[in-house]
Amino acid sequence: MNFNSLFRKKSANVILQEGGDGESHGLHKVLTVRDLTFFGIAAIIGGGTFSAIGNACYSGGPGVILLYIICAIACGFTALCYAEFAARVPVSGSAYTYAYVSFGELFAWIIGWALLMEYSIGNIYIAFSWSGYFTNLLDGFGIHLPEWLTINYKAAHQAFIENKTGEGFLAWSMAPQLGGLRIIFDLPAVMVNVFITWLVYKGTKESRNFSNIMVMIKLIVIVLVIIVGCFYIDIKNWTPFMPNGFGGVMGGVSAVFFAYIGFDAVSTLAEESKNPQRDLPRGMMYSLIICTIVYIILALVLTGMVTYSALGVSDPLAEIFKLKGVKWMLFIVSIAAVVAMTSVLLVFQMGQPRIWMSMSRDGLLPKRFSAIHPKYKTPGFATIITGLVVGVPLFFTDENFVLDFTSIGTLFAFVLVCGGVLMLPPQKNEDYTEATKGKFRLPYINAKYIFPSIIITALSLILYFVPEFFTNQFHITQENANTNVPMLVFFILCIIMTVLSFLKNLSLIPVLGLVSCCYLLTGMAGSNWIWFSIWLSIGLCVYFLYSRSHSKLNV
Ligand code: ALA
Repeated sequence: MNFNSLFRKKSANVILQEGGDGESHGLHKVLTVRDLTFFGIAAIIGGGTFSAIGNACYSGGPGVILLYIICAIACGFTALCYAEFAARVPVSGSAYTYAYVSFGELFAWIIGWALLMEYSIGNIYIAFSWSGYFTNLLDGFGIHLPEWLTINYKAAHQAFIENKTGEGFLAWSMAPQLGGLRIIFDLPAVMVNVFITWLVYKGTKESRNFSNIMVMIKLIVIVLVIIVGCFYIDIKNWTPFMPNGFGGVMGGVSAVFFAYIGFDAVSTLAEESKNPQRDLPRGMMYSLIICTIVYIILALVLTGMVTYSALGVSDPLAEIFKLKGVKWMLFIVSIAAVVAMTSVLLVFQMGQPRIWMSMSRDGLLPKRFSAIHPKYKTPGFATIITGLVVGVPLFFTDENFVLDFTSIGTLFAFVLVCGGVLMLPPQKNEDYTEATKGKFRLPYINAKYIFPSIIITALSLILYFVPEFFTNQFHITQENANTNVPMLVFFILCIIMTVLSFLKNLSLIPVLGLVSCCYLLTGMAGSNWIWFSIWLSIGLCVYFLYSRSHSKLNV
């Protein structure tokens, strides 16, 4: 096998000729910058905001705000890198296509494989959270579904083993049996997946209209939560700021990062945008900025209203109003949560088939994945497969596992996107002509001195304020290996990037994006890394057994 061929690249010009005009593949070009920003918000504010934020606050206390800021910084730099790519390669496919241009085929495949976690596996978490709030809402209307139809099998089994009273235990005890097997599954989660798959199958325009209305509703309700919540803030709740130390804050990294995932989904809509090179970057940045502001205020309100230890529930936004006795808000929050999560499901379910479509056009997946439905003009087959990839695991997995898995896969993809921008040939000032005016351009700031200065300043501050930090980090035992080994690897990466920045005059923004995403990865537990490695190994097998020999780059 020729080793170099693993890194064969697709030229950006070829990609543009194949799909850049959008006409040849028949996708409707209907989306404006407003639609794209709405798509971004639709994808960002969802399960992370209505559900996962609870456990993040429980683990970190009010100090979780720091984590929201750190994640916003990491995502902001990454969004700028996405924007740079989106401006240069405006075709569907997201980070996958970008990696094909900069890193070559093997990395493109790996990233496409990792993105499956962001889009499909992420939707599993959201479908479960959706079901939780939907069931609450039905209960509010006096309709009660039996427990064995509102919880997943794994969670019910776990509750039974741990003898934990509640929904899971009830489901296990009361479930009907078929041939000795208990029938327990999350019916609302399954139903919402079927509905979303149908909607996406039917077409972009319909989905867009649906999405815009939902975004308006959820933004209005979140503003209402913030305004009403402000009246109940007791500043005493903000102390202690970090009850479990900074380690506790970092314990919420999967949940908080998950809340930010979604801005990049905008890039999968390049071929349906009217002016992708100008509008995609704007859509991504606008949606990220709006959501960051919302999150920071929301986290302040949440941790200000009740003590952090009351927030470790799956429906924290409803819980705070329950604790304060504001019943009318409970109902509004539940509706908003259902609406918000429906829109997230929609955007992600639209993104996944478009990535597969690109992979199929390149020959890495069978041809059917890029077939466009003659009437609806959507990638019909890939949409149905996405529905199955989300739908089938709903019967076998639980929400905590998929949350961690999604966050690690997405962060991994972000690291590769930032690294990819560093590998792109730099565009010089003279490349920017009248014709390219209005297109996004990533500002080049030489990292040569700035990045080493940032690292030296950070190290000095740590040494000054937390002198024991390094002795703790370098002392690896069996108990702390989970946290210390990733941190050690991170320090080595910082040193490498410092040297490379100095020697190669690297561009500062992608360097900061790469390093900040790697920092977030240090918060992931060791067991997640094992699952992620297994996932990647399966992907590599598929690549070597099928995709490599079918790649269009073979001819
Ligand atoms: N950011 C999305 C959510 O929180 C994935 O649901």
